[in-house]
Amino acid sequence: MDEGRLKFFCILLPSSLVPGFSPPYRNELRCFVFPFHLKLTRCECYIPSLFWRLSLNTIKVGLIGFGTVGTGVVRLLRENQELIFQRAGRKIELVKIADRDPGRKRAIKVSSSLLTLNADEILQDPQIEIVIELIGGLHPAKEFILKALKQGKHVVTANKALLAECGRELFRAAERSGKNLFFEGSVGGGIPVIKGFREGLVGNHFKTICGIVNGTSNYILSKMTLENMDFEEALAQAKSLGYAEANSTLDIEGIDSAHKLVILASLAYGHWIDFKKVYVEGITQITSLDIQYVRQFGYAVKLLAIAKDKGASLEARVHPTLIPQTHLLASVNGVYNAIYYEGDYVGRGLFYGRGAGERPTASAVVGDLVDIAKQMGHGFSSFSTTRKESQKAIQNMDELECRSYLRFSALDKPGVLARIAGILGENGISIASVIQPERHQSGPVPVVIMTHQAKEKNFRQAIQTIDRLSAIRKKTLRIRVEESEEN
Ligand SMILES: NC(=O)c1ccc[n+]([C@@H]2O[C@H](COP(=O)([O-])OP(=O)(O)OC[C@H]3O[C@@H](n4cnc5c(N)ncnc54)[C@H](OP(=O)(O)O)[C@@H]3O)[C@@H](O)[C@H]2O)c1
Repeated sequence: MDEGRLKFFCILLPSSLVPGFSPPYRNELRCFVFPFHLKLTRCECYIPSLFWRLSLNTIKVGLIGFGTVGTGVVRLLRENQELIFQRAGRKIELVKIADRDPGRKRAIKVSSSLLTLNADEILQDPQIEIVIELIGGLHPAKEFILKALKQGKHVVTANKALLAECGRELFRAAERSGKNLFFEGSVGGGIPVIKGFREGLVGNHFKTICGIVNGTSNYILSKMTLENMDFEEALAQAKSLGYAEANSTLDIEGIDSAHKLVILASLAYGHWIDFKKVYVEGITQITSLDIQYVRQFGYAVKLLAIAKDKGASLEARVHPTLIPQTHLLASVNGVYNAIYYEGDYVGRGLFYGRGAGERPTASAVVGDLVDIAKQMGHGFSSFSTTRKESQKAIQNMDELECRSYLRFSALDKPGVLARIAGILGENGISIASVIQPERHQSGPVPVVIMTHQAKEKNFRQAIQTIDRLSAIRKKTLRIRVEESEEN
């Protein structure tokens, strides 16, 4: 060391060894820099002149997809930065955002240096430890996630479609890499239902999981029920309020609910369920007239995602369902979601809350980030594909037994009702009640029948036969009934 020249002497110390650092700073490594001059006294050398936090304790995060949820995540990380730091015990720093259109005007401003077109700038950056995938769709989201895991990064996603279709492969890759793939935002938006099933309820066998998991269809059915709107009017309103996409097929045809059912049932029953085996039916055939008739029978119509343990097999199905007006789920209206469950120890319970949207979903995504931050270094803890607890097959729908609501569109001619009743009887279906409104105009009239319990295949055969009668003018509508679990 040359005499008379200023030097710097630097030591790394855990904050816990230095007085004056309260949690969460105590977990950090701090760099203390001392100016060192040969002519300074020993005492002066020990006065720290500068210290700053090393990036070692900051988790660097990259976001792919700066759309609705991505914007919410950026906003939440910014607005609640201090709270998240306190709770995670580490700073979560968003260092890169990739999007197909980085220049697009958004509700939140970010520095242009954060933005890129190229997701590889995130996937290949060795400093980034967590990748958030929020682009949606199967490809290239799947490739991005696999690449992130391969590069040794944790992944957070809200992509239910991708998890439902490729979950097994993705979780296997996560397990192999020893990194976590967290997905709280994929079901129920802001409701911590994934964490609920994965952690709080993990000690239970589940008899039933039954959920309203698509806010768009629930909004439509609620409007039809509470305001007598017809389907098209309610759908148009949902679109105008931003509750439905321009292409709402996934929502109203039940596919989005089926994606979510796969995720919930896989968590609850311990093996990744094959999406293709889930029975799916949407709400597009339901009319406001049906809503009025079912009300007369004491029921409400909901699009339910249902999983049930049937012993040797599992039921997994999504369809419009009649539930008693007293059922817990009957009062879940608008865009709200609710997931009813019945565990052998916990008993019956309900998760309820906002099932989608920028802020609730961002809340779930950031919850996952904090979870990862707290667990880092503790190994893999998302869904294990090597669990052997159950490998039950999905029950063939033909085996399902339930009561049904049937609406026939029939010419008002003598003997038609008797013919319908006869065919139902020949197929082992007995009638519980009938509504046949008086005819006020020419043409077909609705004949509404509530049946007792019968097998699915019997209903199918009976309806096929009835729909071939010359007096039947439209395809018959059937809605399955789910009796109250309280019974
Ligand atoms: N929105 C919700 O309420 C909600 C709730 C629960 C879960 N989720 C899930 O969260 C995910 C994101 O949903 P979102 O509503 O935020 O979607 P979004 O608004 O469409 O945002 C997606 C963003 O990603 C961009 N993008 C698409 N492909 C890309 C690529 N290859 N590389 C880089 N950027 C790409 C899109 O750009 P372009 O616009 O140019 O295509 C868009 O800016 C989806 O998986 C969705 O299912 C959403």
